[in-house]
Amino acid sequence: MSGHGLANGPELSQFKFPGRNLPSGIISHATPPGGKLAIEETRRAVLDQADAKAASSKGAARGPPTPARRARVQQHMRPKMLTPDMKRIVEEQRLGFVATSALDGTPNVSPKGTFVVLDDATIAFGEIRSPGTIRNLRDNPRIEVNFVDPFVRRGYRFAGTAHVVEQGTDGFDNLLAHFRGALAGRIRAIVAISVTKALPLTSPAYDDGKTELELRRLWTSRFRKLQPNGSFEG
Ligand SMILES: Cc1cc2nc3c(=O)[nH]c(=O)nc-3n(C[C@H](O)[C@H](O)[C@H](O)COP(=O)(O)O)c2cc1C
Repeated sequence: MSGHGLANGPELSQFKFPGRNLPSGIISHATPPGGKLAIEETRRAVLDQADAKAASSKGAARGPPTPARRARVQQHMRPKMLTPDMKRIVEEQRLGFVATSALDGTPNVSPKGTFVVLDDATIAFGEIRSPGTIRNLRDNPRIEVNFVDPFVRRGYRFAGTAHVVEQGTDGFDNLLAHFRGALAGRIRAIVAISVTKALPLTSPAYDDGKTELELRRLWTSRFRKLQPNGSFEG
């Protein structure tokens, strides 16, 4: 497959997941006694139930749940999470620092520069050569990602659940259509993240009264000096 630009770009209308109705009233946005972990566990239990019910009502013709089907179901269960500014930062920066952890708690943070926004609660990156991240996600789908605009020293952090959709499986081609650029042809799996928590990140410089414009000027000047010949133009 030839590559295309890893531009932003997904038209949200391209991200079509057929809807499935879940039993109403199961998802509550109030925090249950067990906290957010309990919410996630409840979601997973509901997903399992819904998948089992769908499989039995259709004579199990669809087979076991796939990551893409899980992502579709989750999409219909969650509220809007991402504000327009959050989507802007993800699509402008595209580079997110992804944190996962192994079952023994060993942390792993690595950059992914292929991020796209899929919808109001889902972001995704392409797995090209991230064996450690994928290994962790198979054992533990919890994930957190940071995006920061390095010029204005602010961004967002997103936590959620990852669904690894591998090449050749249901839903991969639809998801791949959101990715552009030279590296798109090398994507082996797409990691779709159902965002369940989204928070702003700001530099402590703002606490001291610095404005965004001041920080932009300061850091533009600093990054310019770091370029060969001290110029962005080269
Ligand atoms: C700026 C930058 C962007 C990157 N983007 C991606 C990406 O989108 N997908 C990917 O699989 N690897 C990407 N990589 C490479 C991985 O971060 C790198 O192979 C890393 O060692 C993978 O670690 P892991 O196996 O622990 O995930 C990127 C690296 C850098 C420096």
